[in-house]
Amino acid sequence: MALSTQPYKGARDFYPADKRLQKYMFDIMRKVSESFGYEEYDAPIIESLDLYLAKTGEEIVNEQTYTFTDRGGRQVVIRPEMTPTVSRMVAAKRQELAYPLRWYSIPNLWRYERPQRGRLREHWQLNVDIFGVDNLLAEAEVIQVADGILKAAGATHDMYTIHLNSRKLMDFIFREYLALDGVQAHTVAKLIDRMHKMPPAAFAAEVDAVFTPTQRDEGASDKLIDLLQTKSIARLPEVVRQDSSALELQQLLQVLSNARITNVMFDLTVMRGFDYYTGIVFEIFDENPDNNRSMLGGGRYDGLVGLFGVEPVPTVGFGFGDVTLQNFIEGHKLLPPPRPDTDLYVVLIGNVFTEAQKIVADMREAGVNVAIDISGAKPDKQLKTAVKKAIHYVMFVGEKDLRDEQYEIKNLTTGISERHSAARIVSIVKDYRGDE
Ligand code: HAM
Repeated sequence: MALSTQPYKGARDFYPADKRLQKYMFDIMRKVSESFGYEEYDAPIIESLDLYLAKTGEEIVNEQTYTFTDRGGRQVVIRPEMTPTVSRMVAAKRQELAYPLRWYSIPNLWRYERPQRGRLREHWQLNVDIFGVDNLLAEAEVIQVADGILKAAGATHDMYTIHLNSRKLMDFIFREYLALDGVQAHTVAKLIDRMHKMPPAAFAAEVDAVFTPTQRDEGASDKLIDLLQTKSIARLPEVVRQDSSALELQQLLQVLSNARITNVMFDLTVMRGFDYYTGIVFEIFDENPDNNRSMLGGGRYDGLVGLFGVEPVPTVGFGFGDVTLQNFIEGHKLLPPPRPDTDLYVVLIGNVFTEAQKIVADMREAGVNVAIDISGAKPDKQLKTAVKKAIHYVMFVGEKDLRDEQYEIKNLTTGISERHSAARIVSIVKDYRGDE
């Protein structure tokens, strides 16, 4: 049987056109993050299993990690997320680093999930995290970075909505408003995290099963389900609205609105799966009905750095995946026109390689990406190759052209041919590329 040409299940091959789009997205991510003062870092793709056992969350560790024992008998994991890693790195240099510390990274992550639209087993994820700020301006800033990325990709505010919630507010609701004990609160939190994946009746039944008969008689399930529908802080019951966590959310909405970010809503169903979040949490939803899922998620996690035995560092950050961003860009028709990295394709006429190569070397030095056809095929076949590769310009080099130092350059989009010197061709190509 022939070997399969398919990549591993839930993982992708990146053909040049795919890689081009990925580069386009990463360029935007890098540019916007750096414009806010974030610096890029990276780390190994393999981590010790212990790193995730402490605080990541049961589902991801038990069901979704690629865990194996290495040849030295160590339990290791192919990283499913970057947050424990970056916390480890900050903890290792806790004293030396200058706070506020702004870091970003675009790691490749692996999770053993059921592959479906928007969710694969492998994805790349921009991580933007700010360390050392314990006030709301940190949350506001990282949300502005996320918003800036979407805008730089051509999006407008009607295409996505920022959903805000707070772990502290949820704790208050569970403990004070609904009088749940620790185990019940944990179970209900996990249920809310999954609620959009199950029918409302099933969710209601599962919530009901968590409560004691007395709590049920007192209407705890209805109270919770009513509360989860609330889409504005003003509509929360008085006692909940007055909690400091609700006031904090209100303030954040104000700060964001001052920054002209108004596509924000309060959403008590945003739980975020990870156990490490301690304060405000947020997700950004694509408004395209075909992709109606969270494409970015994050929040405050003040306790993770401290787990490494150093003084804790207040931290806020988010993860933004390439799969969901690509679906967003495609769904809203924001794709940039395809443009190969090669600017110019040289078609050789006759035995002129050695001479042509000198001219091409100068062109490369001048900053033009040039591919020479070295196949030895007939010129029309070489031309067809350039067309197939969607390269914009072709230059023909024959003996007479070399003598005259004038070459035919053909624009494959318009079909127009002109004759010019090599230097002039360089500036035409660079002009087209928008370099000058
Ligand atoms: P997360 O919600 O698991 O958070 O992932 C963040 C984003 O990564 C998701 O909204 C989605 O865009 C993308 N993503 C996650 N899993 C997959 C998958 N299987 N396939 C495709 N895309 C995926 C975290 O990972 C947190 N560590 C983020 C964070 C950083 N919190 C604070 N700092």
